[in-house]
Amino acid sequence: MTFVTPEPPMALLAELTHRCPLACPYCANPLELERSSTELDTATWKRVLSEAVSLGVLQVHFSGGEPCARRDLLDLVAHAASVGLYSNLITSGVTLDAASLERLASAGLDHVQLSFQDSEAEGGDRIGGYRGGHARKLAVSALIRAAGLPLTANFVVHRHNLARLPDMLALGEQIGASRIEIAHVQYYGWGLVNRASLMPSLAQLETANVEVDRARRELAGRITIDYVVPDYHAARPKACMGGWGRRIMNITPSGKALPCHAAETLPGFDFPSVREHSLAAIWREDTGFARFRGTAWMPEPCQSCDRREIDWGGCRCQAFALTGDAAATDPACVLSPDHAVMAAAVAAAAADPAPLVYRRIGAAVPVT
Ligand code: SF4
Ligand code: FES
Repeated sequence: MTFVTPEPPMALLAELTHRCPLACPYCANPLELERSSTELDTATWKRVLSEAVSLGVLQVHFSGGEPCARRDLLDLVAHAASVGLYSNLITSGVTLDAASLERLASAGLDHVQLSFQDSEAEGGDRIGGYRGGHARKLAVSALIRAAGLPLTANFVVHRHNLARLPDMLALGEQIGASRIEIAHVQYYGWGLVNRASLMPSLAQLETANVEVDRARRELAGRITIDYVVPDYHAARPKACMGGWGRRIMNITPSGKALPCHAAETLPGFDFPSVREHSLAAIWREDTGFARFRGTAWMPEPCQSCDRREIDWGGCRCQAFALTGDAAATDPACVLSPDHAVMAAAVAAAAADPAPLVYRRIGAAVPVT
C-alpha cells in the first residue's frame, strides 16, 4: 500500500473506560464491553495526550462509558491542559458534585457535555436504567454553570421520547446551555441491537425537523443547536467521523487506536495499540487507518459522485453492518444499490417493536 502523509487529526476521542452507572439501550459502545482490568494506566494515557499534541491534535474528548468512573480523571484533565489540549468532558453527570466540578475547572477543563435521556424524570430514568438520574442531572447542570464551565446539553432522541422534543429544547435553554445537541440514535453497538425498538417513524422525524428549525430561529445568537439526523430516513449519508482517518482518532479503554468507535466490528483489521505504537506512527503508517482514507478506495457510484469529498462515501461500519461489505457505498445513500435495506429496517421496526435490551457488561438480555 502506498502511504500519502495525511493531515493531522483535529481531535482525539479518549474512551477512558466502558464502566458506566447508566445502561442506555442506544449506547454506541461495542457489545463486548471492556473490563476495568484491561484499561490503560494513567502514565500511558498521559503519554498518549502528549503524543496527540505533537501530532497536531487540538482537542481531546474524555468519553466512555462514563469517564468520571476513572479515579485519575482530574490528573488526565490537568495533563491535557498542561500540554495545551482543549478538553471536553462527555458525561452522564450522575457522579459529579460541586467539589469535583470545582477541581476539574481548576485543573483546566474547558467544557462539559452533559447527556440527558429525556426532558422529564420518568422517561429519562427508564431509558438510562438509573433511578433518580434525571433529577441528579438537573442539579449537576447548575453546578457545572456555577463552576464557570460552558455547558452543552445532549439529548439522544428516538421513538420513545421524540414527542417531548420541544420540552428538551426548553430544558436546554432553562439550564443555561450554550449549545444543545439533539442527536437521533445512530445504530451502532447496543443501538443496532435495539434498532426496532428505537427507530422513529417518518412522521415523527418530520415533526422533529420542524421543531428544531423553529428553535434554531428563536434561539439564534443565544444558543447553538446541533442536530444529528437518523441515517435510515436520509437520502444521503453523513460524513462519518468527518471521513475515515481524516479528522478524529479514537482510543478504546484498553488502548486500541481506531478510526471510529465501531471499527472493531469490521473483519480483517488488526488495529494497533497505543501500548506498543506512537500515535504518529499509527496515524501515518497503519494500513487500517489508510484503508478507507481519501477517495481512491471508493466503488461506484461514489467514485464519480460530486459529493465524494463531502460525505466520503458515508459510514464504513454501517455499510458492513447492513451489506456485509465495508467497502460498499453506505446504504443510507439513495444512490447505493443497497438503499432498500434502510426502508426495510424502518418498516420492520414499525411492524415489530422489540423489547429494549439494556447495555451491560456480559450477555445482552431483553427487558420486557
Ligand atoms: Fe456520497 Fe457515494 Fe452517495 Fe455520492 S454516491 S452521495 S459519495 S455515498
Ligand atoms: Fe465506523 Fe462510521 S462508525 S466509519
